Amino acid sequence: MKRIAALTSGGDSPGMNACLVALARYGAQLGVEILGARSGFAGLAEGRLEPLSAFDDGTLAARSGTVLGTSRDRSFASEEGVERLGRVVDEHGLEGLLVLGGDGSFRHGMPLAGQAGLAAIGIPSTIDNDVWGTDWTLGFDSACNLTLTLLDGLNATGSSLGERIFALETLGGHTGHIALRVAEVGQADYVLVPEVEPDLPHATEALKRALAERGWAVLVFGEGVPEARTVAEKLSEAAGCRLRYSATGHAARGAPVFQMDRWLARLWAERALDLLLEGQYGLVLGYTDRLVELPLAEVAAQRKQLDMTLYERINTRWGGSI
Ligand code: F6P
Repeated sequence: MKRIAALTSGGDSPGMNACLVALARYGAQLGVEILGARSGFAGLAEGRLEPLSAFDDGTLAARSGTVLGTSRDRSFASEEGVERLGRVVDEHGLEGLLVLGGDGSFRHGMPLAGQAGLAAIGIPSTIDNDVWGTDWTLGFDSACNLTLTLLDGLNATGSSLGERIFALETLGGHTGHIALRVAEVGQADYVLVPEVEPDLPHATEALKRALAERGWAVLVFGEGVPEARTVAEKLSEAAGCRLRYSATGHAARGAPVFQMDRWLARLWAERALDLLLEGQYGLVLGYTDRLVELPLAEVAAQRKQLDMTLYERINTRWGGSI
């Protein structure tokens, strides 16, 4: 295999650039040319390809976002799109494809690339950490670290000027993995996630206990909780305390790239290239207690579950059961 394309797809995530750099450098070592496609699958189908090594200026790995650009465009997901992709594959002599993306990219994009004749490997890259079969996705650690810094700030101000309930809404889409992890390590008093119907009386009691015993309370919301701000207002009213509401917003997606993500980026990039050169494809890489290689069909078919034990542990910190 002499020519491989790489693309970033879906929401960008910290570590994507580090992974592109690792691909370019390891590719050069192996004597394989890696071409980067602009703007995800859409750019690939239009043949917008450039040598990946051209982007490696020695500072790129440290930068969040993706230098290739990305998109959520699914317009190429048609018979005509696959044919277009097939023509690009022939014109550029492509043999393999590395897909840096999340759940949606593996479910919708990667199978079509296969139909167009490309041997593809997926590298899970999304801050949401919602890819089945892996404990980590590229960007999750960095997004959590930035969100945690904000939560730490709420505890710092709460301990100084109390009598407030501080609510923090994280990113995470329809999943609460970021909210849960940050609530756990940041010692929040309560967490609400989109996967679980909230027990508002129980949450109210927890907030009251935190206020009574410590003087302030911190409540974390996963992005997908319906009407989070209204729920926060209701809870603060029931707990008899003023509310201060913050949201991390999209800045969490452009968080500084922490070491865990740089490490995973290189680990996965090198393994992905080794696999393609060994003639193995149709896989998504992951990390549990070690690097794992997951069949694409399984990853695409399953949904990652939230750690309910952790959810219960966080939310029973102040007593009661849920
Ligand atoms: O990429 C994942 C993510 O950042 C989610 O956490 C969030 O819900 C979503 O993307 C936001 O996407 P958009 O930028 O399209 O609003």
